[in-house]
Parts: sequence; structure tokens; C-alpha cells
Amino acid sequence: MTTHSLTLPGLSAEELSRVSAPLEKAWTLPTAAYTDPDLYEVEIERIMRKSWLPVGRAEQVPNPGDYICFTLYDQPLMLVRGTDGDVRVMSRVCLHRAAPIAEGEGNRKLFSCPYHAWSYATDGQLVRAPLMEGTEGFDEKSCKLPELRSEIWEGFVMVNFDDDAEPFAPQVASYQKAFSNYKLDDMVIIKTLEFDSPWNWKVLVENFMEAYHHIAIHKTTFEPVYPAKDSKIPDADGPYSILHMPAIEAHADDPDGLPLIEGLEDWQRDDLLATVLFPYFLLAFQGTSATWYQITPVSVDRLHLKIHFLVPKTSAALPHIEEIAEGAGALLSVIHHEDIEANDMVWAGLKAPLTSQGRLSPLERSIWQLNQWWLGALSKTGS
Ligand code: FES
Ligand SMILES: [Fe+2]
Repeated sequence: MTTHSLTLPGLSAEELSRVSAPLEKAWTLPTAAYTDPDLYEVEIERIMRKSWLPVGRAEQVPNPGDYICFTLYDQPLMLVRGTDGDVRVMSRVCLHRAAPIAEGEGNRKLFSCPYHAWSYATDGQLVRAPLMEGTEGFDEKSCKLPELRSEIWEGFVMVNFDDDAEPFAPQVASYQKAFSNYKLDDMVIIKTLEFDSPWNWKVLVENFMEAYHHIAIHKTTFEPVYPAKDSKIPDADGPYSILHMPAIEAHADDPDGLPLIEGLEDWQRDDLLATVLFPYFLLAFQGTSATWYQITPVSVDRLHLKIHFLVPKTSAALPHIEEIAEGAGALLSVIHHEDIEANDMVWAGLKAPLTSQGRLSPLERSIWQLNQWWLGALSKTGS
């Protein structure tokens, strides 16, 4: 791939060729890649609006009429299970004069706009528009809230703003096969932590995807169990990266009070795997559970993060599960606060005028893989 011809706000051809060099010679992204608002707009146009993004789990809307509101790249949306049982992601902006018709989450069979009470069914169909008699050519039946393309993949609701995007599942077939033993589709969220963080989204993804920092940031937590030097990052056969962190020794059978997932290989029971499906779908796997870091970029320098802890349905039905969920949440919080410290430091440094590109360690191969994908995605203007 030639990047010399790629023109991106704030980035020189020389900087880009350092990023696209083979890993042994590669450098990090230039600081502008994290801080330049114009470049962020280009990312939104060429990456975020063209990629499959996870916005929820189907199990979060189990009953007809269940809904969760959120906003993605200025578009107010809601994840809804229709009275027909189907899960949809649709605009929640009223077709009359653009007021959002719902906020928060709950259960409704009808969404009534708070402004002039136009009412929509759970599939987005307008069913009632009061006092519109005498409006020429107005037909309620032809009014339906726009729906985003969505796919349910392993229980995750994936959306794509691009109607022409290739379907998600075939693109990540090799990933799905590699993790099929964990049976993600059968898992449910038992604990969620939330954070607002003042960093560019790539700062968090990069931190998630390398174990090099275990030697300093997690030296008393992860490093004694998953030493940085043993971490491995294989070639990826698709738009993703996998960081394999072998455990120094086999764990006890029941490390966090949860049963091991049935059907795992021995190494899968013991080791920790951190993965990213590009651009920012972060999933980690361990012998008992999975963890989903749900990133929602808010601006070039801000993101919202939900850390969800998932276990198999059979584990979620254990009588003492609430206590286990609290314990898991406390541990995730300790680890994430260590990472917050790291990301805060990086963010302060990235904004400093004398900061330039740095060299990548072979242990940071995932960052290099993400950078190559990022350059490729930004090269496609798609118009
Ligand atoms: S804006 Fe929704 S009914 Fe008027
Ligand atoms: Fe970390």
C-alpha cells in the first residue's frame, strides 16, 4: 500500500510512511491523528459511517416494546424489540418537526412524540398524527422512522450507516471460528461500569490491545499472572487483531466464583485474550467470562465507555450471582483505573507541541495492525 499519496489533515506524507513501514521499522501515529478535529471529521466520514459498530446486545431488549435510546455521530437512535419480535435500530427523531420521540430506556408499545403527540409503533410506523385533517397529500401510512442497517452477531446488535457496506459476519468469519468455543451468543451481561473519558478513541483501543504496559501500569495486578514478555499477537485473517496473554500457570478451577465455560481448550481456560474488531469493538475473553468495552466516541477528545461483564446464561442463573457480579465489577474497576492513569498520561503528552511519533515495540503489533487498517480505510474515499 502506498500512503505517500494519501492526504489527511495535519499529517505529512513522511509521517504516514513511518506508520505504514513494516512493524520492525514502524512508528506510532502522529499526534494530529489523535487531536486534530478535522482529521476526526474525516474518520467519521470514511471509517465510522462505513464500519459495523456494536450498539447493544439483543438480550438487553428481551421483551416486545423494550427500547434503549442512544446517540451515534449526531444521530439520535433507539434499539427496539418490536411487537413482532424483531430487533431494530432506528432514528428517534420525529417526522413532524424533528423532536426526539424518546429518551432513556423502558418498554412501550407506542412512542408518542412529546411535542405534538404524533405516535409511532415499535417498527417505526406512524400510526397517529392528531389534527392533521385538511393537510393535502399527507398519508400517515407512508411515514416511517428511518431504520439503520443492523445485524445480530453472536448476540451483539451491529449497525452500519452505509447501506452498501458488505455484511459483517462473513468479514469476521475466521474470528468467529477462533472464539466459537466461548459461545458468546449464549452469554448475558451481569455487570456494567460507565465512564466518561477525555481521550481520543484510539488512545483507549491502543491501551486495550497491548500487554507491554503490564510491566509498569499493571505490575502488581496483571504482570504477575500474564507477563508482558509472553504476550503474542498472531497474523489476522480479517479486520481485527488478537492479543493472546498466556497465564504464567494454570488457574484454580473456579478463579472468580464462576464455573469455567464448558468445552474450552486447556489454554483457553487459563489465558486472557484481548481482541479488537476494527475500528473499536473491544472484546476480552477468559475461562469463565467475556468483557465488552463498549466505546462511543463523542468528539475528537472525548468518549463514553461502558465496560460490560458477560457470563454464560447458566452462570447468570447461579444463586450467588449478584455477589460474583459485584466482585467482577470491583476487579474490572481496579484494572481500568490503572489504565485510566496510563491513558490520562498519554493524552496529556499527545497534546504537547514538542511531542512527535515514537517507535513501536514488537509487543505492540496490534497497534501496528490497527494503524494499517486505519490507513487503508482512510484511503477509501468511497464516493
Ligand atoms: S415534532 Fe413530533 S409531533 Fe411535532
Ligand atoms: Fe491495561
